[in-house]
Amino acid sequence: MHESTRVRWDTKATRVYWDTRHREHDDLASGGHIGLDRAGNEIFYALRLGTLLPLIGDLTDPSAPLFVLDAGCGKGHFARALARCGHRVDAFDASEEAVAHARARGGGPRYAVACLDEWAVPWPYDVVLCVDVLFHVLDDAEWAAGLRNLASLVRITGRLIVTDENTGARRPRGDYILHRPAAEYAALLEPLGLRHTLFAPYRFRENEVGFHVFTRTR
Ligand SMILES: C[S@@+](CC[C@H](N)C(=O)[O-])C[C@H]1O[C@@H](n2cnc3c(N)ncnc32)[C@H](O)[C@@H]1O
Repeated sequence: MHESTRVRWDTKATRVYWDTRHREHDDLASGGHIGLDRAGNEIFYALRLGTLLPLIGDLTDPSAPLFVLDAGCGKGHFARALARCGHRVDAFDASEEAVAHARARGGGPRYAVACLDEWAVPWPYDVVLCVDVLFHVLDDAEWAAGLRNLASLVRITGRLIVTDENTGARRPRGDYILHRPAAEYAALLEPLGLRHTLFAPYRFRENEVGFHVFTRTR
């Protein structure tokens, strides 16, 4: 990891923001949408899971489940759902609060506390997933280091699935949100062998975010 990223995470307001949000909000609002009530967040998560599952796919042979990483897993909602669907799931988040909650819920995934540019394993993943994390990373160097590291964890023909809007320009929105255009993701990922193959919008109310799928071609 870039030591500076851990230092930034440990010292700056970001850590306080996420730890507090994970401590003070329920399991859905803390990682979903703090502006929505419980029912709204149930719909928000269910809709996204329904869009996500076909993007990940499945293997019918239970002896060979897909190996999935959920990077920035929050309290583990998607990680647990993917484990229930038979996938083998590693999951991490920079917030100790979030990971403690996820671990307490159990449900299959292996959890760790880590930053996006920190996670390292000796085996590549079939799918690396990063839901609603990267547009919360305001610092461009931190964003690039995190994205680069996630890309390095995807096997050949595997997929990196990240979420952001699909706009042509940057859009800062409120506290801790900076939407970046797909071209910025592609400019970083394509030289690393990942091709942008799909954008699947959330289609949830006015939300313009969706899943960007990048496939490793070399
Ligand atoms: C909006 S929540 C999404 C959580 C989860 N992916 C979900 O959809 O339920 C954003 C998460 O990103 C985590 N996060 C923010 N910056 C991070 C970083 N640099 N490395 C790892 N996790 C980070 C926060 O702690 C928070 O749990």
